[in-house]
Amino acid sequence: MDINVLVAYATKYGATAEIAEKIGQVLRDAGLNVFVELTHHVNDLSPYNAVVLGSAVYIGGWRREAAGFLKSNEKALAKLPVWIFSSGPTGEGDPSTILQGWRLPKAIQPFVDRIKPRDVALFHGAIYEDRIGFVEKWMVKNIKAPFGDFRDWVAITAWAAAIADALKKGA
Ligand SMILES: Cc1cc2nc3c(=O)[nH]c(=O)nc-3n(C[C@H](O)[C@H](O)[C@H](O)COP(=O)(O)O)c2cc1C
Repeated sequence: MDINVLVAYATKYGATAEIAEKIGQVLRDAGLNVFVELTHHVNDLSPYNAVVLGSAVYIGGWRREAAGFLKSNEKALAKLPVWIFSSGPTGEGDPSTILQGWRLPKAIQPFVDRIKPRDVALFHGAIYEDRIGFVEKWMVKNIKAPFGDFRDWVAITAWAAAIADALKKGA
């Protein structure tokens, strides 16, 4: 039987889009039918057997489109195997340690608790100094986050491979 997997994501500057594409590629290589889509382009979850949902983090929150997707599709998501990821911290070391234990925005935690995802991951992100404006640069300096691309492709690939394994075993 075909397994249709939706990888839905929200991004502002593209770093999370590339993480979603990478996850999609790993799942596809494992033989799954994969659809990588922006959250605001998805209206109906009925074609999918599983969902991977991710967002970039800005000022401690998910992108509005991703949070909206999670909230408006809560019931459908609660019936599916779901994996959740955030793309945020820059700098060396464990991503959650960089953020002093932060793992998910507080505002979406109750929805995530009800959906009961198979896993919730926090990945390093990328902040492109040449893409962001003056105000965002000031904000980044204020939170002392380093500029640069800190995405950990090994961790992202391993996470996606574990999703593929679980789905192929009938998760
Ligand atoms: C203005 C600004 C605020 C940010 N705030 C946070 C934050 O609160 N927590 C975090 O982990 N990352 C934060 N980041 C880093 C982004 O989440 C990270 O760069 C992410 O990978 C960007 O993804 P995108 O290119 O898909 O938008 C911030 C970046 C900017 C530019």
